[in-house]
Amino acid sequence: MLQPKTNQDKAKIAAGRKAIATYFRNDMRVGLGSGTTSHWMVRALGEEVKKGLRIAGVPTSNATRAVAIEAGVPLLDLNDVTELEVTLDGPDEVDRQGRMIKGGGACLLWEKMVARASRRMVCIADDTKIVETLGRFPLPIEVIQFGWRNTAWQLRKLFGEFGFAEVPIIRRGGDNPVITDSGNYILDCHLKAIGNPDGLAPRFNEIPGVVEHGLFVGIANEIVIGHADGTADVLV
Ligand code: 5RP
Repeated sequence: MLQPKTNQDKAKIAAGRKAIATYFRNDMRVGLGSGTTSHWMVRALGEEVKKGLRIAGVPTSNATRAVAIEAGVPLLDLNDVTELEVTLDGPDEVDRQGRMIKGGGACLLWEKMVARASRRMVCIADDTKIVETLGRFPLPIEVIQFGWRNTAWQLRKLFGEFGFAEVPIIRRGGDNPVITDSGNYILDCHLKAIGNPDGLAPRFNEIPGVVEHGLFVGIANEIVIGHADGTADVLV
């Protein structure tokens, strides 16, 4: 039995349970997101597996892999599948068009690869994650370690074209830079309000040191929003 401590956790669990009931069926291969919302969902999925649901999941981080193993959810390697039926994953922010900022947990690269390998991607979120405009949450960008200061400078120039003056900040855990599951750094970009996420997203490909960015546009097919009273709504 899941033991939520806060109302936000109750809402996250409601979103995860609703999404499992709506989208997961026997013999599916699914993507398992990262972050606390996804980890509640994976624990809830473990309960369904114990009741007999046959399913296997690709985890989007080493942390999610550990939670899935503990919950008893069978796992798959992304190398062993060409396509997943559906991925459930949580956002740092989501707007009403389903555009998201992700990467608050530094897992955005695997999350985007797994989402793109899926026929359907469903965003699961508590109701505090909905925003009118993306950008209050700092946009995470995964960059290779080599020349990262130069990459940050090139990002700053790109942001200038979009009217932002902010400087990307390397994410630290204590004294050292955070290292992602793929061995890269994260630059957090405090853009405050991203008026044109669809225009900005493809431009990151112009900067060679950028491995992947946390703007998920054109990826989510549906959004499941959970509330603290245990209910959840599917928004399309
Ligand atoms: C990790 C992520 C997470 O999915 C995102 O940070 C949401 O986390 P939470 O569910 O804990 O709010 O993108 O890189």
